[in-house]
Amino acid sequence: MLSEGTSLREDILILKQNRRAIILAHNYQRNEVQEIADFTGDSLELSRTASAIDCDVIVFAGVNFMAESASILSPDKMVIIPEIGAGCPMADMIRVDTPRLERKRFPGFDNPPPLIYPVRFTLRDIKAQYPGVPVIAYVNTRADVKAESDICCTSANIVKIVESLSDDKVICVPDRNLSIWAQRNTKKKVIAWDGYCHVHERVKPEDVEKARREHPAAVLMAHPECRLDVLEMADHVTSTSGMLRFAKASSGKEFIVGTELGLMYRLRKENPDKAFYPLRKDMICPSMKKTTLKSVFRALKENKYVIKVPENIRVPAKKALDRMLGVS
Ligand code: 13P
Ligand code: SF4
Repeated sequence: MLSEGTSLREDILILKQNRRAIILAHNYQRNEVQEIADFTGDSLELSRTASAIDCDVIVFAGVNFMAESASILSPDKMVIIPEIGAGCPMADMIRVDTPRLERKRFPGFDNPPPLIYPVRFTLRDIKAQYPGVPVIAYVNTRADVKAESDICCTSANIVKIVESLSDDKVICVPDRNLSIWAQRNTKKKVIAWDGYCHVHERVKPEDVEKARREHPAAVLMAHPECRLDVLEMADHVTSTSGMLRFAKASSGKEFIVGTELGLMYRLRKENPDKAFYPLRKDMICPSMKKTTLKSVFRALKENKYVIKVPENIRVPAKKALDRMLGVS
């Protein structure tokens, strides 16, 4: 029950203080959730914060792989995700050893495509196909996939991570668009997985043409989870926080934003003199929007829902995350 006479926001702030809790929110969260958070950022910034922060409780307003990463990096803290159903469909497109789809409906594994592996295979299949080739797991993966990988990456650092490895061939999972973007920016061979983010995948070159016609003076920023044909039409390709930095530093006054609409809140708040237009008005991630002030309150009040990664997965997964944090 909420206390009488105080607002939900005030109740959250009181509970937060009493419990020595910190609220981390991804840039795609609802405006009011971003507003109450102690830190808002992209996946890389939030991982860094989760590994360094001094508190007893972390409330992670985001999706489940993010809360898992916080728990992996800070096992001594209680990590709570306010909405247990907030998952990332792309992260679920790769499994360690149980195929996501019935394999018998498809031909065998004898003749895999040269570059992009269909999601009917498993991480262990692709590792067996390329023994010794390092696996880079996008942070948008579950903890067990990270535990089976050599190093993690985010959209902010993938090229740097690929370049940091001494091997001339790397496996990148699970986002094919991010992997193709990395391939575009490195001489190494990138073996990709066929996963994708449904929010970014839906953007087509026609959307770019339409947005450019409507806003001819605007600078177009796109997230590397978009398709390559879209990225090639953009003026700047970067992560969510990369867009915040770019828009602030740019002399441009108008921007077309090619990512989830939650980012608009900070873009507009931090740049009141500039105009921001969505590349598509339906770039909304339902999982990211599940968390509300009510669920943040319940998280703090009732510990709903605690995320704890088992040690046998946490330790190797932390190695992959730490290795990434060491590079970037
Ligand atoms: P970044 O914030 O790292 O750009 O990530 C985008 C994303 O899709 C997170 O789910
Ligand atoms: Fe996953 Fe895309 Fe939603 Fe991010 S925006 S959580 S990648 S579905």
